[in-house]
Amino acid sequence: MAKKQPANPIANSAGNGLLDRRLFLTGGLASLGIALSPVVNASESTINRARKPWMQSPGRALGDYGQPSQHEAAVVREGRTSQVGTLGSGASRTPLQDLQGTITPSGLHFERHHSGIPDIHPEQLQLSVQGLVKQPLKFSLNDLARYPLTTKTYFLECSGNSAVNLGPNPALLTCGGIHGLVSASEWTGVPVSYLLDEAGIDSKAKWVVAEGADAARMNRSIPLDKMLDDALLALYQNGERLRPEQGYPVRLLLPGYEGNTSVKWLHRLEVSAQPAMSRQETSKYTDLNLDGRAEMFTFEMGVKSAITSPSGNQQLTGKGYYEISGLAWSGYGPVRKVDVSADGGKTWAAAQLEEPILDKSLTRFRIPWHWDGTPCTLLSRAADAQNHQPTRAQYTKAKGTSGFYHYNAMQAWRIEADGGIHNVYV
Ligand code: CO
Repeated sequence: MAKKQPANPIANSAGNGLLDRRLFLTGGLASLGIALSPVVNASESTINRARKPWMQSPGRALGDYGQPSQHEAAVVREGRTSQVGTLGSGASRTPLQDLQGTITPSGLHFERHHSGIPDIHPEQLQLSVQGLVKQPLKFSLNDLARYPLTTKTYFLECSGNSAVNLGPNPALLTCGGIHGLVSASEWTGVPVSYLLDEAGIDSKAKWVVAEGADAARMNRSIPLDKMLDDALLALYQNGERLRPEQGYPVRLLLPGYEGNTSVKWLHRLEVSAQPAMSRQETSKYTDLNLDGRAEMFTFEMGVKSAITSPSGNQQLTGKGYYEISGLAWSGYGPVRKVDVSADGGKTWAAAQLEEPILDKSLTRFRIPWHWDGTPCTLLSRAADAQNHQPTRAQYTKAKGTSGFYHYNAMQAWRIEADGGIHNVYV
């Protein structure tokens, strides 16, 4: 049956088949003559349904704590590495390419530990607030839980995320393998300002040193202003108590800051006039510049995005319609815009940003695309209110390639004629 063409057929919005992000609002695929699903004969489908084994007898019993389908067993953290001779001093990454939406399942949140995951009995935790305060305080977990709680959705990103793309050759990894040191959760806890107000801050105070109760006693110095602004003592993640690997029973959560500062297994806040100048803010987590000097206390994670689908090591199954989808985020505030290119950065089209667009959280973007089957390169670029995500060439020109932290340049995915996809530098 001939379908009436819309008065203004949807034109490509950028080169190489990028379609208008409002495609589904303005007539959808049918108006373009694109069909995604095979046509089914009605009687055939009735016979097939009756034969399915799971419709022949009752399924399994009710359970206590739910698990993903056994058919999703391949969706696990990836790129797990640990220092030589250790099992828990390293990192594992979120498989971004296997997930949708913007919340990371708690069991797939990336990990970065400096001396393994401690097993802390909740009744034995004591959080002390001390140093330049009028009245040092000590809190049990029950004490903390009696304060008014607040719930916010924030991303957490290790400042070493994506640094593999500073290497001389593009690593042939998945999106999660390259960018999976970012995750997002709904966090519930007590604003740090409540405890600091109660302790009474001395006028000489400028910093708060946060220390974890792991075997490394991992600590970082945090500007007092940040602690009084939006810092949270997180007790819950995605509705349940924190997972052990996320700092059970209490962690610091510093929205937009490099992940290392959101100290896990928190047991001490020391208010001070000076930073502690500890290992993790001198030897590590400093940014080497081209002039050989290193910047310290660089906290905010820059604006960034990556296409999660289609992405590295995935496979397109032939020319035709695809949805390009990915994640964007910024430690400076909400994402304002994401553009996508299907021709290696020559032309760009605005992607649809899924609402709500939250402050310092992951934002999902989508744009429809028609692949004509020829090799091409996909890119995304995000912007917040102040900054645009740089190209890799712009980033390395400004910062060189010897640094490691805060790499936020655009990700390019090369699509070959056979539908294979791999990391590429443009
Ligand atoms: Co930094």
